[in-house]
Amino acid sequence: MTHAATANTSAQTPLRIAVLVSGSGSNLQVLIDAMQAGALPIEIIGVISNREDAYAITRAKDAGIEVAVLSHVESGKRMGIKTFEAHANEQLVAWQPDLIVLAGFMRVLSGSFIDNAPAPMINLHPSLLPVYKGLDTHQRVLQAGDRHHGCSIHKVTAELDAGQVLTQAVLSVDINDTAERLQSRVQKLEHKLLPWTILLLAKNVLSLEVDSTSSQATNYLPTLPLQLLITS
Ligand code: GAR
Repeated sequence: MTHAATANTSAQTPLRIAVLVSGSGSNLQVLIDAMQAGALPIEIIGVISNREDAYAITRAKDAGIEVAVLSHVESGKRMGIKTFEAHANEQLVAWQPDLIVLAGFMRVLSGSFIDNAPAPMINLHPSLLPVYKGLDTHQRVLQAGDRHHGCSIHKVTAELDAGQVLTQAVLSVDINDTAERLQSRVQKLEHKLLPWTILLLAKNVLSLEVDSTSSQATNYLPTLPLQLLITS
């Protein structure tokens, strides 16, 4: 088989994705819609929710996607992170994804879970990393008087929100912005950034390899992160 044929075959094979969620799942919905429209070469093979009341579960089930609810509250008792991780790992190993996407997943995962996961993991975060890791990012942007804000997609590593940034989308903070308004504006950017990033990964334009410059496919591409300048 020629090199070109190999590349062609892999381009047609959908990227098998598992998505971890905790809330509304609007980003999951964007991926479902793009998959169903044939706009993204992906197959969402399963969704894991750590909350039983997450609306994301309804979105996944409506699309016929398998869902594992590993609720952090079981009979009024909090499921410890180790128990959650053991169940989640078992489920992911059974699904065999190519990529694990944290889309609004709000539990901090341990280094050993990340290292033992059957696929690389990316996370969507509502700030221009490396600034504003953690929670309340919109409020903190306003308090600091920043002119720009946005969202990032990064590789997940043991250190919270600190893995290599893959892509970012940026907006200008305006005088009428409140934390709620910024959240809504940033989410509109997320709905574009996430499918774009997954498309770039599926097409091997972006790589999750440790040394992305060593790959023949990526050594002529721009230095990461890519900034997607999207206006809303
Ligand atoms: C998203 O805005 C995402 O940036 C944020 O949760 C929201 C989930 O929305 N994630 C984090 O804060 C992770 N630290 P969705 O459930 O509607 O996709």
